[in-house]
Amino acid sequence: MAESTTPAAAIDAPPVRAEDFEVAARAILPKGIYDYFAGGAEDEAALAGNRAAFARWRFRYRVLTGASDPDLSLELLGQRFAMPVQLAPAATQKMAHPDGELGAAKAATAAGVVYCLSTLSTTSMETVASAAGVRWFQLYVFKDRGITTELVDRAAAAGYQAIALTVDTPILGRRERDLRNAFGMPAGFQYENLVGPLARAGPADLGQSALAQYFSFQLDHALTFKDLEWLAGHTRLPVLVKGVVRADDARRSVSAGARGVIVSNHGGRQLDYSIATLDALPAVVDEVGGDVPVLVDGGIRRGTDVLKALALGARSVMIGRPYLWALAVGGGDGVRGLLEILREEIAVSMSLLGVRRLDELTPDLLAGP
Ligand SMILES: Cc1cc2nc3c(=O)[nH]c(=O)nc-3n(C[C@H](O)[C@H](O)[C@H](O)COP(=O)(O)O)c2cc1C
Repeated sequence: MAESTTPAAAIDAPPVRAEDFEVAARAILPKGIYDYFAGGAEDEAALAGNRAAFARWRFRYRVLTGASDPDLSLELLGQRFAMPVQLAPAATQKMAHPDGELGAAKAATAAGVVYCLSTLSTTSMETVASAAGVRWFQLYVFKDRGITTELVDRAAAAGYQAIALTVDTPILGRRERDLRNAFGMPAGFQYENLVGPLARAGPADLGQSALAQYFSFQLDHALTFKDLEWLAGHTRLPVLVKGVVRADDARRSVSAGARGVIVSNHGGRQLDYSIATLDALPAVVDEVGGDVPVLVDGGIRRGTDVLKALALGARSVMIGRPYLWALAVGGGDGVRGLLEILREEIAVSMSLLGVRRLDELTPDLLAGP
């Protein structure tokens, strides 16, 4: 675990696990930026809970299966991916490294996984599209539906293949690290996707300190399933709903037109004491897993975490902070290195678990809490 590793040891040696990147990134990044990436809401109980949930599951592995040469590939929304790990949307990636979203997207493409670009990116969706393979666009819905439809239509025109509608952020959670640090987005960065639309509605070069205010005024904080229905009807792109932790919400999302559900609590950054996403996953899978793919994120740091999530019914997982740390440490190459480590961990663990394909991952391989 991270606490047993001294920063010096981890920085001097090449990273061998995802958490090594965090130790190194912490030594590099200004404290305000590190805390913005690392932090959660209030007591950070949801943040810690996401991680803790994985440790409670153990493997009941199979032996003598002859499984070797594991196949990590999967199908998702009609496309094949090299492994079941996608890059979750995360704001302002140039604060981690000048390579920013472009570097992370290129690394995802090289590894054969999805890059999901945040609405609040520091690189425009068109620039990312010019370098990325399969790309999804994460959407926040604005009160001004003109801004919203403009973003969605631009994403479709730029070849994004899905929209991830984030529904756990009607307002920003209280992130006390940012409050204590009086954190503001450093000069020189802006929300590149919003430069055009907000030139009409207000300034685009908002600092992070103005973010909460900005959310209050510009984002629609009263979204309902009707809005999801509207969005699903507006765009030909499949809409995945990101931020669901309840089976009934998952069902209502699918009924309103969602083509996938991402079980997420925003990495513990929104409602504190939210249920751990791994704990929320099985009920959502039971409810809608037969109809649409269910993804999960929050606290995934190991190949074994990925396999646990898949054994509990997730089609794929997403990672957030791990790739921000890798980006901070090594730019796009760092993210490439991280994805290679995860790929190796998944492959080794599949062999030891006695499975050759991802669809052989079933709950009986786990001993639960
Ligand atoms: C610094 C940071 C910024 C984020 N920005 C967004 C965002 O703009 N939109 C969004 O839907 N989720 C955002 N998230 C949440 C991630 O998409 C994801 O749900 C979460 O990071 C997964 O947890 P993990 O970091 O433990 O892997 C952000 C997360 C972090 C850490």
